[in-house]
Amino acid sequence: MIEQNWSQVEAPSNIAILKYWGKKDGGQFPMNPSISFTLEKCKTKMNYKWNKRHDLQIEIVELNFEKKSNIHFQNKLNEKLKKLVSHKIFPFGVNLYIDSENTFPHSAGIASSASSMACVAKILGEIYQLEEMSEISSLARELSGSAGRSIANGWMWWGKCAVIEESSDHYAKSINKEIHPDYLSLQDWIFVCSDHEKSTSSSEGHELMQHHPYKAARQKVAFERAEMFFKMLNCSLDKKFFELLELECLDLHSLMMTSSPSIILLRPESLKLMHTIRSLRAEGINCGFTIDAGSTIHLIFPKEELHRITECERIGRLGEMGKDYKCIIKDRCKL
Ligand code: PMV
Repeated sequence: MIEQNWSQVEAPSNIAILKYWGKKDGGQFPMNPSISFTLEKCKTKMNYKWNKRHDLQIEIVELNFEKKSNIHFQNKLNEKLKKLVSHKIFPFGVNLYIDSENTFPHSAGIASSASSMACVAKILGEIYQLEEMSEISSLARELSGSAGRSIANGWMWWGKCAVIEESSDHYAKSINKEIHPDYLSLQDWIFVCSDHEKSTSSSEGHELMQHHPYKAARQKVAFERAEMFFKMLNCSLDKKFFELLELECLDLHSLMMTSSPSIILLRPESLKLMHTIRSLRAEGINCGFTIDAGSTIHLIFPKEELHRITECERIGRLGEMGKDYKCIIKDRCKL
């Protein structure tokens, strides 16, 4: 018997300025702290209903994605839920029926794992009546690391680090109160550079960090950057932020390229845009790029530059749609 009517949850996607790359202690714990902000337009919405089971399993018995049954996603999620119940005790088991949809095109090259796993964690939070955001973030993290940072809006910090009080490897925490207003209205124009399937998943990428020759150096640098970013985010925005932003994502891609096996995810279109963005900054436009584990370029700039960036797009300085990129999603930080 289904005990409830359909309910709805939603969660935003997020973009990290300091990247989570590599796990520690054999679990879903980060090798280094990460910092991100959530997006306004790129979200996942899930309608769900559930009933109690006689055992302690949590199982999705029906999953529709964009109105079509999606067995692959359902099986993947059930595997994750099985792992979760093997080391977390829930008072009862549930059968779940989920209808999921994203507000962004699904071939857009934007990872939906953060927003979708955050939705699943929110569903479990509602069913088991969890009140603390940290508990829901911790569930989301177990399903997909970066999802722990998609539980609340705005700037989130995940990972134990001396600079942030009560920071934890178990859950992400909001740092909105510590952020200068300049960073609260950051814009993120997402340039989808390729519709090629990614050759390597982030789980495989995290795994490759275990024996990476630069593992210790990466950890040291990431902790130093956590402190540098945190100081910057407290003060008004300047060019140095974009320099650090770019260095950080270039480190991520360098680590991927120098892992064994080596992974190259950037496309010629991505590189072209990276050069363009640097020229715009050299001309005095406050902007920079960041990139996740893919070829999609995130052009980041403050709201004050919206006019100039829009003009650059209009005159073709950012390239031509269809030739230099597949589409642009004009998003921004959501508080
Ligand atoms: O949450 P995962 O396991 O998909 O890893 C995300 C890794 C990056 O997107 C590359 C960086 C990050 O911190 O979001």
